[in-house]
Amino acid sequence: MSSISIIGAGNMARALAARALAGGNAVEIIGRDPAKAKELASALGGATAGPTGIAPAGDIVILAVPYASAAQIVSEYGDMLDGKVIVDVSNPFAPGLKGLVTPDGSSAAEEIAKAVPAGVPVVKAFNNLFARVLAADPAGDRPLDVFIAGDDEQAKAAVSAFIESLGLRPLDTGPLSMARALEAASLLLVGLASHSVKDNNFSLGINILS
Ligand SMILES: NC(=O)c1ccc[n+]([C@@H]2O[C@H](COP(=O)([O-])OP(=O)(O)OC[C@H]3O[C@@H](n4cnc5c(N)ncnc54)[C@H](OP(=O)(O)O)[C@@H]3O)[C@@H](O)[C@H]2O)c1
Repeated sequence: MSSISIIGAGNMARALAARALAGGNAVEIIGRDPAKAKELASALGGATAGPTGIAPAGDIVILAVPYASAAQIVSEYGDMLDGKVIVDVSNPFAPGLKGLVTPDGSSAAEEIAKAVPAGVPVVKAFNNLFARVLAADPAGDRPLDVFIAGDDEQAKAAVSAFIESLGLRPLDTGPLSMARALEAASLLLVGLASHSVKDNNFSLGINILS
């Protein structure tokens, strides 16, 4: 069991929190609008609503906010994040889903990592799953895949254990710089959703031949 704080109270926060609770994790929801955070926590049952401005309670802090806000949020927390593992789920889409807004040769996760205190690890995860898919019970005979990337092996192990507790399969893709590929892969997903599948009810997964 992990202790999780989720910053944000939107679609991804709801889907992650519901699964985390079902997996027996302690879940704190932190929203800039305390009423919204409280409402989500009580709707889910079993989660707490944490105040902003003090250290998150969880050992793993999930940023379920837009990329444009994420770096500023972690900067404001500053040293209160010492000892935590930060999980970035963001997709830094450009308007019209025509590309990514991150600087060339970087990713949202790497930009966020520059804003956290030294030594606080950032792990990219969950950005390749539509909130709708994450919220649904996995169909079929195998768990959904969650691609992760990060430079800190211990942090990736902690996030992987959390992912397994959600009934999902963590797949390590390598260092944090692989977040560039994971964020680009989300463009692939939205391209498929709008051009061929015509829905966002699917996921990206890996078939390993035995
Ligand atoms: N939706 C998906 O299918 C999906 C899939 C993969 C990854 N993602 C990523 O997940 C993240 C969240 O997406 P979402 O769909 O959950 O969005 P959402 O439903 O719009 O929720 C975003 C949340 O972030 C909060 N927020 C926004 N700016 C903030 C700020 N400056 N300070 C504090 N909180 C702030 C919002 O607060 P208020 O409620 O007060 O507005 C809201 O609770 C994004 O980075 C997105 O790229 C989404």
